[in-house]
Amino acid sequence: MDNINSIFADDVELIENADVFEEDYTPDRILCRDDVLKQYTSVFKPIYKGRPPQNAFLYGDTGVGKTAATKYLRENLERDIEQKNQQLPVGERTTLNVVWINCENFTTADHKTSSYQVAVGIVNRLRDKGNRITGTGYAPQDVYDIMYEELDKLEGTVLVILDEVDKISNDDTLLYELPRSRDIGYVENVRVGVIGISNDYTFRKNLSPKVKDSLCETEIKFPAYDAEELSEILRVRARLALYDDAYSQETISLCSALAYQEASGSARRAIRLLRRSAEIAEEDGSEQVEENHIRQADKDLEYGNIVESIVDQDDEKLYILKALAHLDNAGLTPARTRTIHTAYARVVRTYNQQRGKDPLTQRGMFNHLSKLVMFGFVNTIEHNKGASGGQWNEHEFSDDVDPQKVKDAFEDRNLEWLHIDVRGIEE
Ligand SMILES: Nc1ncnc2c1ncn2[C@@H]1O[C@H](COP(=O)(O)OP(=O)(O)OP(=O)(O)O)[C@@H](O)[C@H]1O
Ligand SMILES: [Mg+2]
Repeated sequence: MDNINSIFADDVELIENADVFEEDYTPDRILCRDDVLKQYTSVFKPIYKGRPPQNAFLYGDTGVGKTAATKYLRENLERDIEQKNQQLPVGERTTLNVVWINCENFTTADHKTSSYQVAVGIVNRLRDKGNRITGTGYAPQDVYDIMYEELDKLEGTVLVILDEVDKISNDDTLLYELPRSRDIGYVENVRVGVIGISNDYTFRKNLSPKVKDSLCETEIKFPAYDAEELSEILRVRARLALYDDAYSQETISLCSALAYQEASGSARRAIRLLRRSAEIAEEDGSEQVEENHIRQADKDLEYGNIVESIVDQDDEKLYILKALAHLDNAGLTPARTRTIHTAYARVVRTYNQQRGKDPLTQRGMFNHLSKLVMFGFVNTIEHNKGASGGQWNEHEFSDDVDPQKVKDAFEDRNLEWLHIDVRGIEE
């Protein structure tokens, strides 16, 4: 091994098992979550006992273990049921089918989906490849009928897990009907239990009373982790992922402290930070993760986060950000709303030549611009020259955003970065 000289190799390797850093890795133990796990376990107990399942709604900030805990309990439940079944006569065995849907996978460019699309997803999860249905071409009621028909072909309990359920917007038909499908008479052979998982508090608040009644039979809140808990989670993860002398206690403490401060107690952020730090240390040829690697990793993640949150914006806001990017590059920011509107209109026309989509009016654009200010992408500078000089506002990128990040976001959205001419735009 030593003599192979590859440009892909690093002089030192600190990461022993990179899989442990992956998003789909399920930890053997869910740490620091005893209270939550206890509540959550009792949601699954009836299924284990062969009784009618319960529905539950899980909520909490991003990265606090909702998906991890659910996967963990699901695996345990399936394993324990199988063990129990081996000791029972065939007729007394418990059948459990789990349908895991990540609603994010059924979203369109605006990161939203509908009950209908998710129902299509459930049908396709239950059908084999040759028989899948498409997301268009069926009336909603037909799709629901097909879905209940497919579900009813199964036996025993069907547990439908809807992760990132807040991606379902507008119509919540599925969310109140699915948990009650047996009462309503949509299915006869199976008992359906639904688990909804969300990190969006407004979604929870805005659920209709009907959904609250059915889906939110049990509500489980996942609180954020404190720095101490993050350290504990990270310590175990580091032990599995990194070579022993590749890091120190300080590595763990600093990563946890930063994730606590900057990402409101997200274990995902802490784990990503450790991973990125180790990668940077390897590239640096360092034998151990040092503070400067962690600081650099933190910057990298922040950069990525901002790009990601730009990617999540709707088209109008992306166009406004692009307009600002060109104005910024041309040294024309801070710019007045009128100037931004002219640049924005050019962006819209450039991107929608074929589709004939018109730019919003200045007032319409201003609403979106105000949201961008609210989200912290854009700063407003107020000018007030008293009675004689009048009042006006100018806008520019906040410290978090720059033209390159907007460009990166366009790339992530698979949108070409078309040239926009902003010369002579200011009157
Ligand atoms: N208590 C824990 N013990 C061990 N690992 C954990 C724990 N909580 C979270 N993790 C790890 O942290 C990462 C993020 O957790 P998870 O994906 O469960 O977050 P989430 O609450 O589902 O977030 P989101 O709302 O963004 O989907 C995962 O790698 C997970 O394995
Ligand atoms: Mg999750």
